[in-house]
Amino acid sequence: MSMPRVHLVGAGPGNPDLLTVKALRLIQQAEVVVHDRLVPQEILDLIPSSARRIFVGKATRNHSMAQEDINLLLVELAREGKRVVRLKGGDPFIFGRGSEEALTLAEHGIPFEIVPGVTAAAGCGAYAGIPLTHRGLATGVRFVTGHCREDNELVCDWRGMMDPDTTLVFYMALANLETIRRNLITAGVDPAMPAAAVSCGTTDAQRSVLATLGTLERALALQPLPAPCLIIVGRVVALAPELAWYGERELADA
Ligand SMILES: C[S@@+](CC[C@H](N)C(=O)[O-])C[C@H]1O[C@@H](n2cnc3c(N)ncnc32)[C@H](O)[C@@H]1O
Repeated sequence: MSMPRVHLVGAGPGNPDLLTVKALRLIQQAEVVVHDRLVPQEILDLIPSSARRIFVGKATRNHSMAQEDINLLLVELAREGKRVVRLKGGDPFIFGRGSEEALTLAEHGIPFEIVPGVTAAAGCGAYAGIPLTHRGLATGVRFVTGHCREDNELVCDWRGMMDPDTTLVFYMALANLETIRRNLITAGVDPAMPAAAVSCGTTDAQRSVLATLGTLERALALQPLPAPCLIIVGRVVALAPELAWYGERELADA
C-alpha cells in the first residue's frame, strides 16, 4: 500500500473566504482531519461527513492533547493509509508548531506537504486597516510570541524591538500585556507609539481597540476583548481610522 502524504494545512485567521484554493480542495478530499481550537465551525463544516474528525485543540494552560501525542497521532494515521489533513489556524509555520509535526513525520519517513495559510498578522492587519509596512512609517515587521512555556516570565530581546521603523506584532499576548508594555518602554519605545488590539480578526466578531503602547492595557481593562487577540505596535496603527474598511463596531480610541 502506498503511503499518502500528510498535509499540514493553514486554515487562515477565521474567515472561511480566506482559505486557499488548495486548502479547500484538501479538506474536501480528506479522510481524516485533525484540527485545532482556532479552526472555526464554518470551515469544519466543509469537511465531508464521511471523514473522521479529531479535535486536538489547545487553549493556553489547557492542552487537550500533548504536542508529542499529536505528532505521533499523525504518524499513526498516515500509516493506516489515510488521507490526513492536519488543519491549523492561520499559517502552520507561524507560531503553529507545524514544524514540530513536520519534523516528527520526517523522522518517521512519512511524506508531507505544508499548505500555507493567511497568518493572523496579515489577516488582522488587512481587516483592521493596519498595513504592517508603509513607506515612511515602517520598513519592516516583526512577529513576536507574547507567550512563553509554562508560567515563566516572557523573555524577549526587548532592546532589539525599539526600532520605530519596525512594526511589532505580538501573538498570544493578552495575558502578558503588562510585561510587554513595561519592557518595551524600558527598552526605549515611546509610550505614545500607536498600538492596537484586534480580536477575532477577519470574522463577523472582529473588534479592535486603538490606543497607544502606554494606554492599551488600560483601554482593554475598560473594554475587554475576547481571544484570539493580536497586539500590533507601531506607527502604522495610526492609519487605522482612515483605512479601516471592514464593518466592525468602533470600540475605542483611547
Ligand atoms: C497559537 S497562535 C497560532 C497562530 C497561527 N498559526 C497564525 O499563523 O495565525 C494563536 C494566536 O494567534 C493569534 N490569532 C489567531 N487568529 C486570530 C484572529 N482571528 N484574530 C486575532 N488574533 C488571532 C492570537 O494572538 C492567538 O493567541
